[in-house]
Amino acid sequence: MKSRVILAMDKPLSYQILKEMENELYGIKIGLPLVLDLGVHKTRELLNDLNVEEIIVDFKLADIGFIMKSIVEKLSFASSFIAHSFIGVKGALDELKKYLDANSKNLYLVAVMSHEGWSTLFTDYIKNVIREISPKGIVVGGTKLDSITEYRKDFGKMTIISPGMGSQGASYGDAVCAGADYEIIGRSIYNAENPFAALRTINKIIEDKVMNC
Ligand code: C5P
Repeated sequence: MKSRVILAMDKPLSYQILKEMENELYGIKIGLPLVLDLGVHKTRELLNDLNVEEIIVDFKLADIGFIMKSIVEKLSFASSFIAHSFIGVKGALDELKKYLDANSKNLYLVAVMSHEGWSTLFTDYIKNVIREISPKGIVVGGTKLDSITEYRKDFGKMTIISPGMGSQGASYGDAVCAGADYEIIGRSIYNAENPFAALRTINKIIEDKVMNC
């Protein structure tokens, strides 16, 4: 496997740095701060010919189907989109999933957020929505290792991607050891003095930890 890391790009990095990093990344997740900064056109230009497995748009879509489809349509250079699961199925996620399937794009649903205040009150409901929609993958916070293990058990081979590593306190490699497929890492890479060196170090830490978990 090339890398377990998905770069959370919430701030622009130069094309040169991204080119340097492409062979050491699984994917790139782009956030609203980045697109508001650069605009859609420049974001597309920056990412267009990068050799990574997935470009994931993380706007955490949470609207009626029609609006979510209009957003996705404008970002057709991406391969994958993250939406909230709490919005429910009919008239929202069912329409988005149908549209993404028809356009060969992937859907990820947020299952568990990484911040402290995320409530588990809706867990059963969220799991039912995930079962009904059957997305490519789910987002489970890397700060909640027990939740990763729980969702891995409940959702078999579904892809699990986990943010919260590094800057939010979770240790690199722990999410993968708990059952995640990829770790989403932002500030610890893009704010580093040398982002490429930071990525390499993180890849090595994850690799070493995964060999012993
Ligand atoms: O900079 P940092 O590594 O904390 O970035 C984490 C990224 O993952 C951000 O883009 C954030 O929006 C996203 N994310 C998160 N927790 C979730 C879902 C997404 O931190 N539960």
